[in-house]
Amino acid sequence: MSNNYIKIDTLNTSLLFGVYDKQVEKLYYGERIPDAPEYSVYRMKRRQSHPSVDDVVRKNDIISYFGQGNSRQFLVELEDEDGCHNLQFELESVKQIEGAAVDIKGLPYAHGKTKTVVFEFRDKVGGLSLFARYSAFDDCDAICVSHAIKNNSKKPYVIKRFMSMQLDIDETGHELTYYDGAWARERQCKKIKLDSGVFFTGSSSGFSSNRYNPFWMLKTSYGGYYATNLLYSGNHKEIAEALPIGLTRIMTGINDERFAWKLEPKETFDTPEAVMAYGESQESITTNMHVFVKNHILRGAFKEKPRPIVLNSWEAMYYDFTKERLLELAKVASEVGVEMFVLDDGWFGGRDCDDRALGDWTDNPKKTGGLKDLSGELHAMGLQFGLWFEPEMISPDSDLYRKHPEFVLRGKRSPVVTRSQLVMDLVNPKVADYIVSALDKIIVEANVDFIKWDCNRVMTDVYSKFSRGGEYAHRYILALYNILERITSAHPHVLFESCAGGGSRYDLGLLAYMPQVWTSDNTDCADRLLIQEGTLVAYPPCTLSAHVSICPNYQTSRTTNIAARFNVATAGVLGYEYDLTKCSKEEKQVIGEQIAFYKKHRDTFQYGDYFLIESAFDTTKPSWIKVAKDKSFAIAVIVRVNEAINRERGKYRLRGLCDDANYKVTVKDKDTTFAASGKILNSYGLDLTGLFGYDALFEPVSLMLIIERE
Ligand code: GLA
Repeated sequence: MSNNYIKIDTLNTSLLFGVYDKQVEKLYYGERIPDAPEYSVYRMKRRQSHPSVDDVVRKNDIISYFGQGNSRQFLVELEDEDGCHNLQFELESVKQIEGAAVDIKGLPYAHGKTKTVVFEFRDKVGGLSLFARYSAFDDCDAICVSHAIKNNSKKPYVIKRFMSMQLDIDETGHELTYYDGAWARERQCKKIKLDSGVFFTGSSSGFSSNRYNPFWMLKTSYGGYYATNLLYSGNHKEIAEALPIGLTRIMTGINDERFAWKLEPKETFDTPEAVMAYGESQESITTNMHVFVKNHILRGAFKEKPRPIVLNSWEAMYYDFTKERLLELAKVASEVGVEMFVLDDGWFGGRDCDDRALGDWTDNPKKTGGLKDLSGELHAMGLQFGLWFEPEMISPDSDLYRKHPEFVLRGKRSPVVTRSQLVMDLVNPKVADYIVSALDKIIVEANVDFIKWDCNRVMTDVYSKFSRGGEYAHRYILALYNILERITSAHPHVLFESCAGGGSRYDLGLLAYMPQVWTSDNTDCADRLLIQEGTLVAYPPCTLSAHVSICPNYQTSRTTNIAARFNVATAGVLGYEYDLTKCSKEEKQVIGEQIAFYKKHRDTFQYGDYFLIESAFDTTKPSWIKVAKDKSFAIAVIVRVNEAINRERGKYRLRGLCDDANYKVTVKDKDTTFAASGKILNSYGLDLTGLFGYDALFEPVSLMLIIERE
C-alpha cells in the first residue's frame, strides 16, 4: 500500500484500489501498470455529494449494500430482527498477506495463491464485519475474490444476498458473451449488448446446470475483455447492470432467489470464491482460465497425469449386458488399446431400466458375475476398471427408499419424480454417511480405478427438517463437497469424472474434486463442435471428456465418418462409447490406429496450450490448435461442416506457434507435407481447400495437421 493506494499485479494485469473516506474504490483494472508513488491520474477527487448519491459518489466502490445512497444491484443484503435492511460499512483495516491466506471452510478454493489483500469493513451500529479478499497468482492473470461476513452482535441477521464478486466498469454498451444450453446442447455461445438495464443469468435448479454456465466474458466498448467465473456447483447468479449515466456493474455469486441464511451471533458466512481476469482478447482470457484451472483448481494425483482412454459401456449396451458380454467387449477394447473399461449404469441392485434401484449400491452378480471377479478379469487383461454411480439420487422403487423414506428431499408436499428418481437429502448426516460408506465398500471390494459420478435431475422440492428452506440449496452443496472430500481423500488413486445428464454440472467447484467431466450426452461430432468449443473457452482440454460413438449417431441420427468423430474427440480426453464387438475388422484397425496416435501425442491433446482458430458458432470451418509448452510441436484440427454449396472455403491463420521457428507440417492420412515459418503459419493465408476436395456440405469432414519444429 502506498499512501492510500493498493495495487495487485498479476503477470500482465493490475488491479488498483484507492482508499477514500473509509471506503475502497477500484481505480483501475486492466493491462499491467508500473508502480508509482501516487495514482491520482485515475481519480482527481472523490465527489462528495450529488443529488443522485450512488451514481457518482459510490461509483467503483468495491462493496455495495442498501443504505448510504446505494441504489444499484447490491453485493450484500441483510435483514435484522426488526426487518431493517440499512447498513453502513466503513473500512477498518487493510492487510496484505504473502502466500495462500484464503482458506474457505467447507468450500473448494483456488490453491497456490501468492498474495492476498484483505479489506475489513465494519458496520459499528450493527456489529458486523465484512471482509473482501482479493488474491493473485504468479503464473496467470487470474484474480480470486471472495467475501465473508461476521456477526459480532448479540442478535441474529438473515443474509438475503451475498455475492462473491463485484466489479464496476466504466461506460455501457459492452458486449457480454455467456454460454447457455439444455440437455445434449450444453454451453452454446450467446452474445448481448449491455446498453441499459439489468441482465442476469444463473441457475435455481439446485445445481450449476446446463442452462447457464457461471462463466461470463465481457468485451468492453473501448477494447479489452473481462471474464468471471465461480467456484461453486449450486444455484448461482451472474448480474450485469448497465446504468444510463454510463456505468456497468458486474457481479457473480450464490443465487439470491429463495436464499435466506440465518447468521447467528459469532457466526461467519463465507461466499464461494469467484475468479476474474482481464485480457486484451478472448484468446488471452481462455489461456488464463486454462492455466488457472490446471494449476489452481485441479488437485490430487490426476492433476497433471495422462488421463486414460476409456471404453464406456453405456452407448454400447445400455442396461442390456451380462458378464460374458462385458468381457467380450473388454477383450476387443484391450486389443485396440483402450486403457480403462467403465461399466456404466445397470450393475447394481435391481437396476435393469431407468425406473428403479438408484440408491441400492450393491453388486448385482446376475449381471456382473460379481464385481470383484469382473474387476479381476479386467485387470488381468491389462485394463483398469471404472464404475458408474449416481449417489445423490434415489428411485422410489428401491430397497433403500423402502427402508429409509426419510432419506428423500421432499419439502412438505409430494416431491415431483423425474426420470423415476428423487433427490437424496444430503444435509441429513445419515444420508451423507450412507453414500460415503456405500461407495467406499464397492471401491475397495471391486478394486475400482475410476468413478463416473452422475446426477440426472434438478432439485425442486427444497425443504428438509435438517435445514431452513432458504438455506437448504447452499447446505446441500456444502454437504456434497464434504462427501466428495471424504471419498476422494480416502481414495486418492481413483480418478473421478463428474457427469450430470451429460454436462449439466461443468463448474469450477466440482473440478476441484473431479478433474474431468462428461461434457454432454450428445456424442454427435457436429454438435460436439459447438458444445466443446463453448466449454473450452473457459475450461482446459484435460477436463473435457469426449467419446467417439456409433454411426448413425444415437442422439441425432446423423451420419459422420469415423475420422471426423476421432478428430473432434481429440479436443479433450479421448474415449469410446461403442460396441466394438460389432465392428468390422477394418473398423477395429482404424480405431486401434486412432488410439495409438492419441497415446503418442496424449500430452499435447490433453495438456497442450489450446487456441481457437475459427469458431463453430461463427463459421462453417471450426478449427483449433494445441501447442506444446516449448512450441516445438503442435496439432491442429480443421473441420468443415454445414457449408453452403459453391462457396469459397476460406483460409486459416494458425495460432500459438513461434514466429521465428521453422515448422514441418504433415497432413495426417493425406500424404501431404509442407514447410513454413511460424510467422507465415500464424498469419492468415493457409489454404487447405484442395485437401478437402468437394466431398462434404452437411457432414463434417476434417483434417489433422501435425506440426513439428525443424
Ligand atoms: C446419464 C449420463 C449418461 C449415462 C446415463 C446412465 O444420462 O449422462 O452418460 O451414464 O445417465 O443412466
